[in-house]
Amino acid sequence: MRDQANRLREMAAQLMGRKAPVKTERPRTIVVTSGKGGVGKTNIASNLGIILAGMRKNVVLVDADANLGNTEMILGLSPKYRLSHVVRNEVDITDALVASHNGLKVLAGDSGKYDFPTLTTATQQQLLDSIYESEPAKDFVLIDTSAGLTDEILFFAVHSDDVIIITTPEPTAVMDAYAMVKLVQHTAKGSMPALRLVVNMAKSPREAEATFRNLESVIQHFLHEKIEFLGFLLYDAAISKSVCAQTPVVVNAPHSSVALSLRAIAHKLMVNGR
Ligand SMILES: Nc1ncnc2c1ncn2[C@@H]1O[C@H](COP(=O)(O)OP(=O)(O)OP(=O)(O)O)[C@@H](O)[C@H]1O
Ligand SMILES: [Mg+2]
Repeated sequence: MRDQANRLREMAAQLMGRKAPVKTERPRTIVVTSGKGGVGKTNIASNLGIILAGMRKNVVLVDADANLGNTEMILGLSPKYRLSHVVRNEVDITDALVASHNGLKVLAGDSGKYDFPTLTTATQQQLLDSIYESEPAKDFVLIDTSAGLTDEILFFAVHSDDVIIITTPEPTAVMDAYAMVKLVQHTAKGSMPALRLVVNMAKSPREAEATFRNLESVIQHFLHEKIEFLGFLLYDAAISKSVCAQTPVVVNAPHSSVALSLRAIAHKLMVNGR
């Protein structure tokens, strides 16, 4: 769909005798999602964004949560504009992006908005295109979704290169992670993004590993899909302390076990990229 949009724009630009403003190569697009709520998506996406930006990459983090977006609190930001302003075309994407640690650029989500504009596939595609065409998104676009299995989340998932699914070891979270994989597979219709799993709030590496193995075998058996174990984070009070300090844990507690795990996850993501 995006290729087609690019081609049309290029043709239009050629007809008008000027160079097409679109990039032929889009940035690597990574969706961080879960199924179950409260499993750590926003903390993981925000910290991964900062780590990747620290590797001298141009990274845009999109808080795609239109109801309860709280990336800005975790990162300690005060954005003037947010997702709803961009979706309504009230402001250009580059004016809506705010700078965070290591030069990470963030599009804030919305919170408690009763009149958030409906996200149709057309508005979602338009949003992605405008982000792709912006300079700060040269290397990575990270999309932090809300919880649930909505059409909006599935759209982002099937238009991405990687889907990072976050689960905790609790069976309810694992079951919801499986449901997410099932619906992504159904929606993707053969062109699947790379599936990667992070087990969060584990009591031990062994528990995290066992959680992954169980889910991997069910996904393999029933859906015939592969999923990579991207890593795990132990339950660590450093995260909630960092949330209270409105400073991401990789900055607030860079030597904590979770900060080290997040760096290992970012490294694996880079190595196993497209
Ligand atoms: N490894 C961890 N150890 C301890 N607490 C954690 C850990 N990861 C996340 N938390 C805590 O879990 C809560 C939920 O985290 P977060 O907001 O990142 O989840 P979420 O999946 O984005 O939630 P939502 O579905 O509401 O968007 C927060 O209170 C956070 O402090
Ligand atoms: Mg969240």
